[in-house]
Amino acid sequence: MTKNIAVIKGDGIGPEIVGEAMKVLDKVGEKFGHTFNYTQVLMGGIAIDETGVPLPQETVDKCLASDSVLLGAVGGPKWDKGEGGMRPEAGLLGIRGALKLFANIRPAKLLKPLASACPLKSDITDNGLDLVIVRELIGGAYFGEKKTCVNSIGNKTASDLMIYSDYEIERICRVAFDMARKRRKKVTSVDKANVLDSSRLWREISHKVAAEYPDVEFSDMLVDNTAMQLVRNPAQFDVIVTENLFGDILSDEASMITGSLGMIPSASLGEGSLGLYEPIHGSAPDIAGQNKANPIATVLSAAMMLRYSFDMQAEADAIEAAVDSVLEGGVRTGDIMSEGMTLVSCSEMGDRIADEI
Ligand code: IPM
Ligand code: MG
Repeated sequence: MTKNIAVIKGDGIGPEIVGEAMKVLDKVGEKFGHTFNYTQVLMGGIAIDETGVPLPQETVDKCLASDSVLLGAVGGPKWDKGEGGMRPEAGLLGIRGALKLFANIRPAKLLKPLASACPLKSDITDNGLDLVIVRELIGGAYFGEKKTCVNSIGNKTASDLMIYSDYEIERICRVAFDMARKRRKKVTSVDKANVLDSSRLWREISHKVAAEYPDVEFSDMLVDNTAMQLVRNPAQFDVIVTENLFGDILSDEASMITGSLGMIPSASLGEGSLGLYEPIHGSAPDIAGQNKANPIATVLSAAMMLRYSFDMQAEADAIEAAVDSVLEGGVRTGDIMSEGMTLVSCSEMGDRIADEI
């Protein structure tokens, strides 16, 4: 098969980690007889520098015209002072919206060779940790009406409207239930229905969808309780489905308890097969350009791309198995380094993974 991939290297360590993911993809192509064509496009800080905006229209057009999008990371201190729309992060929100990527899939799994990096006590993680957060990605407070004004008595006031419609809740819940059917058949819907109207609608619609999936165990959980349960007993979760802001917060928490933020990939999906795949970590400007970054989250994001956008299951399995075997062999980048292991650079990690394919 031939697939056209739009590549957004972005800022900081973005170019380094994306380069390694492309190296691994090319090896998969060679091995399985596929051709991956790459079109590089600009987004984030580098796009601000070169075109004056974080998300040029040309980038949106080229992404829409491709089969899928691979993204490194955007942002950095250089652009932190930019006003709302002129920040690298605005590019990321813009592309999610423009490609209508409403479902963000974030797996959090404790990998055996890295179990010692998990910050939780072993009696908590003995039961394992393997969950997926399905985060609604283009609604809620991120995309609701925003206002900053000075009121009549001179107070500066700002607001972000957390708004959801029934169809938005329904479609994200379906993604979660379909995913649960391929896993341990358990969905936890997370909301703040004791306070928020938008959460009460979330609860009503999620229950309606749940009724169509009688084979999937379903429950609701308040978001504050979920934050606590994730560190108390993470093994209770299989698929968590939640709105945009709650999902942003809980997915950082979930990734941290695996002990390896640098290892976690993500997929952002819409109605069709076009998706955007990126590591969940940021652009790490402190180590940019030093060939030190951990490329594994980006490599695993490429595996998700093969799985979800291209329906190449064996190829995705091959990448995941290669990562496992490199880790089993004691090869580590600095962020996951521990005693007795072999420290390698970003590019060497990419080479080792590609060699295993
Ligand atoms: C994420 C990030 C983004 C978000 C930021 C960079 C806008 O934190 O992908 O989780 O909040 O969605
Ligand atoms: Mg986040």
